[in-house]
Amino acid sequence: MNAATQFDVLASAAHPVHGYQAFTLGDFSFERDEYFVHIRWTTARGKPLSHTMDAGNFLRALMRDVGWGFFYGWVNFDSVFGTTNHYNTVDVFAGSYNASYKSAGADLLQNFPSEQVRLTFVAILENWTNAGFDPYAAPLETGTPYGRKNGANLAAVRRVRQLAERCVGLRDDLAMRTDDGGYPVNRAFADVPQDTPELHPEPGFENDVHAFNLFAYLSRSDVVWNPSFTSVVKHSFMCPTTEEHILPIIHGNDRVEWFFQMCDEITWDCGDKLTAEPRARVVMKAGDMAAMPADCRHQGYSPKRSMLLVWENGSPKVVHDILAGTSPVYPVTF
Ligand SMILES: [Fe+2]
Repeated sequence: MNAATQFDVLASAAHPVHGYQAFTLGDFSFERDEYFVHIRWTTARGKPLSHTMDAGNFLRALMRDVGWGFFYGWVNFDSVFGTTNHYNTVDVFAGSYNASYKSAGADLLQNFPSEQVRLTFVAILENWTNAGFDPYAAPLETGTPYGRKNGANLAAVRRVRQLAERCVGLRDDLAMRTDDGGYPVNRAFADVPQDTPELHPEPGFENDVHAFNLFAYLSRSDVVWNPSFTSVVKHSFMCPTTEEHILPIIHGNDRVEWFFQMCDEITWDCGDKLTAEPRARVVMKAGDMAAMPADCRHQGYSPKRSMLLVWENGSPKVVHDILAGTSPVYPVTF
């Protein structure tokens, strides 16, 4: 037992052929080979089951789950495996939110202290991510996740999510992204103006009156599907992000999220949060707004790098209000 962390990560020795370690968390085990990840568990009736995922898809999903601290609600890696954040503890599940697995009794859900899951998932991510593969990057902007173990990419997988305390560009807060800071303009946003707004605050209000060029800031994002905080007012979090290819997780909401499509286009598949049954397909073009209700799951497809403003309600209370029926599942009724 490591006194500093309180939780042991249960890992095997490196595999003699492909070189990856295997990991155990509760009654779940995790193995990878050159192409695939295999998750195994035993059902309540004692039946051993396994689930297979593409290694690249698994690592891209795992990166978000780790990087976002298990996020808001459900992080489904696919229609079978995922986590649910209870904000001090985390459920790890297989088949629990899939109607067919559930009705067949093929599911398993176990709850752990968040730190125990985090340490295990970080160990998997760091062991299974090879040199040259960045799970936060767009597929066209990084190397392959496949093959035998080949080094590591700790700089990429230890990247910290950029969270403003008040607003990007304010004194002692997140700096604007620049060439010198290591954030060149992305190939898809070469036409985005890089000018800055004029600011004329009264003396004494220089750290209160503020504006910045959000399009310029986003044009220099080096990752995709990774909402950062650009402004925070109480529990209102503006989380703009650039998107390309597929959202690596299927997000299940425990609260309402608003989306504003700032440029280009994203298609969303929306389903039932508990059963995975399809519910809607939403095509968002530049200027469109949509809200994802608190009882849905959603996954987006962005054929070209696009800018999406996600507006999150960060209230720790709203989840309980929704469960109690005192706050609505839908943000607006017509
Ligand atoms: Fe979401």
